[in-house]
Amino acid sequence: MKVLVTGAAGFLGRTVATYLKEQGHHVVGFDLKDPGIDGLTMQIGDLTDLDQVSAAVEGHDAVCHIGAIGDVYLAGEDPGLAAAVNVLGTANVAEAAVRHGARVVYASTWEVYGEPRYQPIDEDHPCAPDHPYNITKLAGESLLLSAARLRGLETVALRLGTAYGPGLRPNSVFRIFIDRARRGEPITIQGDGSQGRQFTHSRDIARAFDLALRSDVSGVALNTVATRTVTIRELAEKVVERFPTELTFGPPRPGDVPPATVSAARIADVLGWEAQIPFEDGLADLIDHELAGD
Ligand SMILES: NC(=O)c1ccc[n+]([C@@H]2O[C@H](COP(=O)([O-])OP(=O)(O)OC[C@H]3O[C@@H](n4cnc5c(N)ncnc54)[C@H](O)[C@@H]3O)[C@@H](O)[C@H]2O)c1
Repeated sequence: MKVLVTGAAGFLGRTVATYLKEQGHHVVGFDLKDPGIDGLTMQIGDLTDLDQVSAAVEGHDAVCHIGAIGDVYLAGEDPGLAAAVNVLGTANVAEAAVRHGARVVYASTWEVYGEPRYQPIDEDHPCAPDHPYNITKLAGESLLLSAARLRGLETVALRLGTAYGPGLRPNSVFRIFIDRARRGEPITIQGDGSQGRQFTHSRDIARAFDLALRSDVSGVALNTVATRTVTIRELAEKVVERFPTELTFGPPRPGDVPPATVSAARIADVLGWEAQIPFEDGLADLIDHELAGD
């Protein structure tokens, strides 16, 4: 398929673009900047500009819409920017895809649910986001799903688990722990460390995008999370096993979403996807990439 990957200069966009190329798709990236990935053609443009988005989407069978203000802390500091990119930008992708008959697979997030009312959270759980990041991500998702109902857009929203893998943003807990431990500095856990996350490897996420592209399922949102929960304390302890250093505890980080268990049963049923990369292997691989300076 001819696939446009928005956000291809970012952590997940780059992983998805690379994976899709390996699977034989013809891939073009779209972002504000060129990440300089070998063999990846880039279209430089801004999601908030409909003309630029429409010109980029033209000629493609599908769009993996991954470009966004994906940094929760930046979205909290600048809700206007998050709204412009995540809401208007996604409306532009929907419009361009309708015009050019392209299918859209959207990088949504498990954080759209807000406070859990029951667990494990399945896709029928109400969405009550409470932060500029998850509010704007849900708005983008809703715009795409409404275009499926009203305008015949083919689209799937993947509600991704907290992702990890090579190329992660510098302010992710993985990078912070690994960087400090490597230098022999203490690792500080914010909160008591019991908060768990279904950390999902970026290559597993990339495989979900590929399956969603090839499927004819449309108009649905699917939780795309690894089933295993790992606590922040376990993560810190595994990093310390590799680079022995002291573990300390500090106050919780404002904006952190409380833990919740999310069900991945529906995506297994609908797309045949489940996470395959064991956490220990994914973490060891990430540390190796960090040591190699990737
Ligand atoms: N990383 C995670 O744990 C995670 C979890 C769930 C969902 N997601 C979603 O996945 C997507 C990617 O996340 P990420 O961690 O790779 O983020 P990232 O910040 O690494 O990448 C986002 C990319 O979008 C690009 N971008 C921002 N504004 C743009 C604009 N106006 N026009 C064009 N491109 C623009 C950025 O330049 C960047 O390359 C986001 O939509 C995020 O909400 C991420």
